[in-house]
Amino acid sequence: MSPQQRVWDHFQRTYGRPPTVVVRSPGRINLIGEHTDYNGGPVLPAAIDRAIWMAAAARTDSRCRMWACDVEETCIVEGKPAAPVVKPNWANYILGVLTTMGWPGGMDIVFGGDLPVGAGVSSSAALENAAALAADALFDLGYARLELVRITHAAENHFVGVPCGIMDMFAGMMGRKDAFIQLNCRALTWSYLPFEAPDHTWVLCHSGVERRLATSEYSARRRECAQGVAALQTLVPELGTLSEATPDLLKAAQGRMPPLIFRRCRYVVGETARTAAAAEALCNSDYKALGALLYQTHVGLRDDFEVSCPELDFLVEQGMRHSACLGARLMGAGFGGCTLHLVRRAEAPAFIAHLSEAYLRAFGRPMAAWTVRPADGATIVVGPD
Ligand code: GLA
Repeated sequence: MSPQQRVWDHFQRTYGRPPTVVVRSPGRINLIGEHTDYNGGPVLPAAIDRAIWMAAAARTDSRCRMWACDVEETCIVEGKPAAPVVKPNWANYILGVLTTMGWPGGMDIVFGGDLPVGAGVSSSAALENAAALAADALFDLGYARLELVRITHAAENHFVGVPCGIMDMFAGMMGRKDAFIQLNCRALTWSYLPFEAPDHTWVLCHSGVERRLATSEYSARRRECAQGVAALQTLVPELGTLSEATPDLLKAAQGRMPPLIFRRCRYVVGETARTAAAAEALCNSDYKALGALLYQTHVGLRDDFEVSCPELDFLVEQGMRHSACLGARLMGAGFGGCTLHLVRRAEAPAFIAHLSEAYLRAFGRPMAAWTVRPADGATIVVGPD
């Protein structure tokens, strides 16, 4: 049964009526431009062909009933909550969006899908985007897509309380089939770069390492980057974000910041340049150059930004040694989750088998892997009449 059919059936069974809307809301990968979104820099993400499906209908009261059919958990709130619920945590992504929208009305909701949770492919942003699009359709709110992105981003920052950048929500909402999004996170301007490479594919390898440090260390990195900006501003007061700094300016300011802050800044300034180079390589279908840039990003994330872990390093290094792999890096915030590999399509099954075996031998735990493809962003697949 397809995920769409499954959420439909669950909805009918749970609430005794059919849903009014069904939304498909994808996860994302990020080709390059890691930890640059909150530094006002460029990112190159894409929505992927794995998603959350949400079936929903409006209610006549202000109650919100939610059913997560894959994990068989429910949550019911009587109206706009004053604070996040303690459990289940997933409910806060939906409640945060509805609260940020001013609680347009009560809803019955069922969701599920084939997007791995906790793997660093933005299942939380997918859930937020799904709730935003469903509420917008059900209550005829008429938001533009970019406004919905701002709403889901605000919900995550202010209601859920995770200080993330805008990339994940943007990619999940604005993705386009067979293209990466070249997004400037300072100006919020974007364009689409086609990825039509019949001989190449993207493989995600999930380390299975829980991203436990992700929230606290993520906040720490944001603070360290802000410290870097403050030091740079002693030379160039009008500097707004770290990604505006040139390598020369950073060098000139090296003595004005502690060595650790300098390394954080060196990574972000380097990543900003690499992302531009990667966009060019993508446009030229130069996958060798692209792969080399991905690996350079990994080295920077590992040594200067320090967000890797032995499992991710292993998957990247072992991956790079395989003849099928042109480039690899940890993807997302780090501290666990997935690595992303650019792989020759014909050899992808052999590549995955090789890496799975090596990983099991080295760490005694299985590795999950998925080949993914850039896909359209969140879509209403069944709309109100
Ligand atoms: C997480 C955040 C994003 C971004 C990445 C790192 O996925 O949600 O906003 O900062 O980490 O690039």
